[in-house]
Amino acid sequence: MIRRVLGRSGIEVPAVAIGTWAIGGTWWGGTDQADSIAAVRAALDAGIGFIDTAPIYGFGRSEEIVGRAIAGRDRSSLVVATKCGLDWEGTDGPFFFEIDGRRVHRNLRPARIRREVEDSLRRLGVDSIDLIQTHWQDPTTPIAESMGELVRLRDEGKVAAIGVSNATTAQMNEYLSVGPLASNQAKYSMLDRGIEAADLPFCRDRDIAVLAYSPLALGLLTGTVTADRVFGAGDQRRGHRRFTPENIAAVNALLVRFDALRRAHGLTMTQLAIAWTISRPGVTTALVGVRTPEQAREMAGGGVVLAPADLAAMDAMIAEAGV
Ligand SMILES: NC(=O)c1ccc[n+]([C@@H]2O[C@H](COP(=O)([O-])OP(=O)(O)OC[C@H]3O[C@@H](n4cnc5c(N)ncnc54)[C@H](OP(=O)(O)O)[C@@H]3O)[C@@H](O)[C@H]2O)c1
Repeated sequence: MIRRVLGRSGIEVPAVAIGTWAIGGTWWGGTDQADSIAAVRAALDAGIGFIDTAPIYGFGRSEEIVGRAIAGRDRSSLVVATKCGLDWEGTDGPFFFEIDGRRVHRNLRPARIRREVEDSLRRLGVDSIDLIQTHWQDPTTPIAESMGELVRLRDEGKVAAIGVSNATTAQMNEYLSVGPLASNQAKYSMLDRGIEAADLPFCRDRDIAVLAYSPLALGLLTGTVTADRVFGAGDQRRGHRRFTPENIAAVNALLVRFDALRRAHGLTMTQLAIAWTISRPGVTTALVGVRTPEQAREMAGGGVVLAPADLAAMDAMIAEAGV
């Protein structure tokens, strides 16, 4: 597994990390706690000592599962990242969405950030969060106020490094005027390339790590999703435009074209999708969602870098497929 550094924080991480959105259950049709703990432990055992979670994933459940999974593990070989700023307990900040009867607001006010960090420390069972990230940006709170509080939490030793998620380059500039940013977490995969034009070069130029989320396009890029797959109640993929039988078939037709290349590298399709992501210039780590120990072990095999010629060949096929 190749390793990289989170910006200028000095924190070293593997190029593949454990994503824990799905094991929170919400948006993913529920969760199985035993499978989830086993999945995280399998990934840790396979050398993936980097976990990304968030309070909003299952309204604390994902963090609690992570806390149970890492209990007793060597903390020094583990980088724990979580987030703040999605508030389901109050009404401050702009309304964002409603799910499972809870109304969620974007709230990056200093008091909320501090409360969330305290709650995350408790659920995770750690003394310090290695990377705290503002989850979605709150246009009603000046970034200087949010970042000022994050810097205070860092100075108090409650967090080690600060990052953002779903932020524009203008917003990142505002954060940078207050303190250092270690990372930017953004959606990125073969099918979601919106950050290539501005965000990736911006972060490369400023030595900000890029953490790519949904690198498997919610599982679509694993090649295991068939056109007749039925997603359960509460699974966001049910009725999702990406998961229509026609689109699944079109994406799978593209993935079949990668067969010769992936076999030459001894990779499964899931591993090739991960390898593609972490081979893109400027991408530091792919955050891969896993729900089972088998998925966790497969993910760990994706931590390889592809040659520019392989990336170019794949890009040509992706462009031709038009998916
Ligand atoms: N900052 C943000 O706003 C944000 C947003 C989204 C995600 N994230 C982070 O990024 C992480 C990853 O993104 P993601 O979870 O959205 O999607 P993803 O990594 O693109 O896809 C994850 C899903 O793919 C399926 N899968 C994984 N490994 C597989 C394998 N080996 N074979 C077959 N299927 C496999 C699993 O679903 P099934 O088994 O159910 O098919 C899994 O839940 C999240 O967990 C979270 O930590 C952050």
